Amino acid sequence: MTEKIPLLTAKNVTVSYGKRETVHQLSLNFPENKITAIMGPSGSGKSTFLRCLNRSNDLVPEVQVGGEIQFRGDNIYAKKVNPAILRTKIGMVYQQPTLFPFSIYDNVAFSQRMLGLHDRKMMQEIVETSLQQAAIWDEVKDRLATPAQALSGGQQQRVCLASVLAAKPEIILLDEPTSALDPIASAKIEATLIELKKLYTIVIVTHNLQQASRISDQVAFLLDGQLVETGPTRPFFMNPREQATSDYLNGKFG
Ligand SMILES: Nc1ncnc2c1ncn2[C@@H]1O[C@H](COP(=O)(O)OP(=O)(O)O)[C@@H](O)[C@H]1O
Ligand SMILES: [Mg+2]
Repeated sequence: MTEKIPLLTAKNVTVSYGKRETVHQLSLNFPENKITAIMGPSGSGKSTFLRCLNRSNDLVPEVQVGGEIQFRGDNIYAKKVNPAILRTKIGMVYQQPTLFPFSIYDNVAFSQRMLGLHDRKMMQEIVETSLQQAAIWDEVKDRLATPAQALSGGQQQRVCLASVLAAKPEIILLDEPTSALDPIASAKIEATLIELKKLYTIVIVTHNLQQASRISDQVAFLLDGQLVETGPTRPFFMNPREQATSDYLNGKFG
C-alpha cells in the first residue's frame, strides 16, 4: 500500500500569546480522508494549535504563529492567501454551537451567499445536501425557516457542521464538538464523521478517549504545548511508546 501525500502538514509550528509561548515546535501531518484526533489535558494547547490550521488565530489579539502550515503544499500564511476563503476550504466546528440568530436555512446558506452565490435553486440544493450530509435533514426539513438557535444542542451542532459543509470544504476541524452533548447526540455526530471521512479530511480535538479510539485513524497527544506522541490509533492506545502517554491514558492528568 502506498502512502498518500498528506493534504495538510504542520512544520515546527510555534504559537505565542504576547511573550508567552504556548505551542512549541509542533510538527504533524494530516493524511487525506482520515480522522486525526488531537488529545491532551485541558490547557495543553489543543485549541490554540487547531486554530492555526485555518488561521482562526488571526482573529485573536496578540497571537504570533511561527513555523509553517501547508495545505496542498502551499503555505497558508502566505501573503496572497485570503483567510476568509481559506476558512471555507478548511472549516471549523467549535465546542459550543456558533449559529447566527437566523433561520436554519439562512445559517447553512450563509457561506455560499458570502462567496457570491445567488441562484435560488442551486442554493436550495446545497442547503439540502449539506443538511443531509450532517445527518440532520430529516429532523429539520419541515422547519427550515425557523430560528436555528431554537434547536437542541445536538441538532445545533449538526447544523453548524452543515454550515461548514455548505462552503464545500476539503478539511473539517472540530474543537470538542460533543463535549456539551449527551451520549445519544454525541453518537450521532460520531457516526456522521465516520461517514464524512470518505469525502473529507477531519481533525478533531477531543478529551474523550473512547471517542478518539472509536472514530480516529491517527492520534496526536499534546502536553504543555508539546507533541508527546503521534501515530495510528490502535497501537497508540494498545501500546503507547511514551510514559506520559500511558499516564494520560490511565487518567493521571486532568
Ligand atoms: N486568547 C488567548 N490569550 C492568551 N492566552 C491564551 C489564549 N487562548 C489560550 N491561551 C492559553 O494558552 C494555553 C493553551 O490553551 P488552549 O489552546 O485553549 O488549550 P486546550 O484547548 O488544550 O485546553 C493555556 O495556558 C491558555 O490559558
Ligand atoms: Mg480547547
